[in-house]
Amino acid sequence: MQFAERMNLLGTETAFEVLAKARALEAQGRSIVHLEIGEPDFDTPAAIRDAAIQAIHEGFTHYGPSPGMPEVREAVAAHIAKDRGLKVTGDQVVVTPGGKPIITFSILATVNPGDEVIVPNPGFPIYESIVRFAGAKPVPVVLREDRGFRFGAADLEALLTPKTKMVVLNSPHNPTGSMLEPKDLDEIAALLRERDIWVLSDEIYSKILYEGTHQSIATRPGMAEKTILLDGFSKTYAMTGWRLGYGVMPTPLVKHVARLATNVYSHATSFVQRVAPTALGGKQDEVTAMVAEFRKRRAVFVKGLNAIPGVTCAMPAGAFYVFPNVQGLGMKSADVETALLQEAGIAALSGTAFGAHGEGYVRFSYANSIENIEEGLRRFEAFVQSHARAAR
Ligand SMILES: Cc1ncc(COP(=O)(O)O)c(C=O)c1O
Repeated sequence: MQFAERMNLLGTETAFEVLAKARALEAQGRSIVHLEIGEPDFDTPAAIRDAAIQAIHEGFTHYGPSPGMPEVREAVAAHIAKDRGLKVTGDQVVVTPGGKPIITFSILATVNPGDEVIVPNPGFPIYESIVRFAGAKPVPVVLREDRGFRFGAADLEALLTPKTKMVVLNSPHNPTGSMLEPKDLDEIAALLRERDIWVLSDEIYSKILYEGTHQSIATRPGMAEKTILLDGFSKTYAMTGWRLGYGVMPTPLVKHVARLATNVYSHATSFVQRVAPTALGGKQDEVTAMVAEFRKRRAVFVKGLNAIPGVTCAMPAGAFYVFPNVQGLGMKSADVETALLQEAGIAALSGTAFGAHGEGYVRFSYANSIENIEEGLRRFEAFVQSHARAAR
């Protein structure tokens, strides 16, 4: 039996594959330190869990509108208005099962075959995957360590062509933890404002930030009309498995994104949507505590990595990943990923899981306890030393 050719265009997120391999080794009795997966190791706050159970009891177990329930769209609009300082109404919001469908749907709804989309590289692999799936060409804007894994308007300008249809921004950034600074946003906005180019602004890590304050490019003059702002509940409220996210976009785009939802899954789960007002409107103590804990882990991890001869690691500003430079090992990153799992019992991701420009790096997630991070560091140091000896 044959499969459709378009499936050759679709990429993936290898975190799920590494997790499966790690679990298989654990089933054989091996001890694995999990530093691969991008999900908070915290419980969803109790008030949110209670709101979902109440919603089930209240009968929110039926079909609803594709863009989301009106009261939920309103709650998201009120949150984004207050949090980002934007004028937003509920009819600009599409509520989705996780933030991810906003990536797929906004690209399918705006990008034609043959168009070009500028994507951060290294970057979240789904951008490139969906751009190719849409028959378009991903154009990498390279995030370099010596530039703090940031880029600016000049870097983008050099990549613009008449075919450029969209620019994807992701700040705070997966996998490097970098953040675009207010002046970067000013300059990027000035570059794109007058051009017929969409911006997909992936702000899923907006609340997982250790330095500065998060700003959206949509706040810059003329940008709300062309920006799709993606955010959600997965990371902020430790709700990865619930699948709840949203996009805030210019109203004319909403009907197209909602139509894609109608064709694929109809709408986000009704009782899951109902927790949004509780999460966004309630006290944010648990979020603050989680970020404080991530901050401690970040310090331990970065210090520990920089203490290993041959390894350097920049201090990330946000998200919960470190992206150390492992070029000193003299190995391909993909081989480092395999060897770390097989030899050292560390599940981590090759930098190239995030695009070709991730070569020379690995990504560790610090969504794990300090105790496990310290064990991971011990194993990693022994691994680096044994490979350095072998290379001599
Ligand atoms: C940059 C980025 N965008 C979007 C997502 C998707 O989030 P969700 O689980 O809400 O679909 C992730 C998840 O890892 C991510 O890292």
